[in-house]
Amino acid sequence: MEINKDTKVRLNNGVKMPLLGFGTSRTKGETERIVLQALKAGYRQFDTATRYENEEEVGNAIKKSGIPREEIFITTKIGSMEGEHDYPEKAFNDSLKRLQLGYIDLYLIHWPISGRLEVWEFLEKKLEEGKVKAIGVGNFTIRHLKELLEIAKVTPVLNQVEFNPFLYQKELLEFCKEKKIHLEGYCPLTRGHKLDDPRLIEMSKKYKKSPAQLLIRWALQHDVISIPKSQSEVRMKENLEVFDFEISEEDMSTMNSWDENFRVTSDPEEIP
Ligand SMILES: NC(=O)c1ccc[n+]([C@@H]2O[C@H](COP(=O)([O-])OP(=O)(O)OC[C@H]3O[C@@H](n4cnc5c(N)ncnc54)[C@H](OP(=O)(O)O)[C@@H]3O)[C@@H](O)[C@H]2O)c1
Repeated sequence: MEINKDTKVRLNNGVKMPLLGFGTSRTKGETERIVLQALKAGYRQFDTATRYENEEEVGNAIKKSGIPREEIFITTKIGSMEGEHDYPEKAFNDSLKRLQLGYIDLYLIHWPISGRLEVWEFLEKKLEEGKVKAIGVGNFTIRHLKELLEIAKVTPVLNQVEFNPFLYQKELLEFCKEKKIHLEGYCPLTRGHKLDDPRLIEMSKKYKKSPAQLLIRWALQHDVISIPKSQSEVRMKENLEVFDFEISEEDMSTMNSWDENFRVTSDPEEIP
């Protein structure tokens, strides 16, 4: 299938989500500026979280942009703040208030909370109330997903996990496909750690693209939703220029073989 900057994936509940989006973690204080620039550059899908402490800035940018709400897709996430007063209801209401939105497009459990599956039931309730258009999870392994699917009335639309050629989670990708759960890949650029890998540089030269563009394109060709983050206007534009070339099947296989279980964030299996 041919893809372009406006390509949307159809999630398992029929909701459509832009295949390429924009990450906002670790941008607190600058988020409003960069989301406004990203909107201007053409991004329409944004990833935030309670934990990023920037939901209000994302909301300000959406308001200031003047772009109709329904043209923008917003994901936010609930953290594991069990001890907090009136959790999870308050956590959700606070997110909505900070984002200054009437609804959230996609609401995720940020990290698996073992034995706390009632948080999923809470998300299902928000979906039923129409406060969110889709619900999903983050950092779930196959084990976590199996546990969830046993009690879930609603199948998560997606699982947001760390995913790039250096952490090619093939088994998880296949399991999710089988269960009709889309994969969304975070740290598509390995947070910069692997951009100078000689094999990647060599491959990018072949396609006359940058290493970052090659990594994003690799994810998209796996039908994985990608959310690169950049605070630079030049680089956020560069990261959108990934639709004028295609990585050959052979080179996709080569890139798949770079997997070395490299992680920028924690291994969800090692979280207590
Ligand atoms: N669910 C979760 O637990 C979870 C965990 C981590 C991340 N995420 C989400 O995924 C998003 C993306 O992940 P990430 O921000 O950790 O890492 P990333 O997108 O893999 O990498 C971002 C880094 O790459 C640099 N960069 C961006 N474009 C570039 C380009 N064209 N050339 C060279 N360098 C470039 C950025 O620097 P500049 O900003 O200076 O351009 C930044 O240092 C996050 O923002 C967040 O929304 C979710």
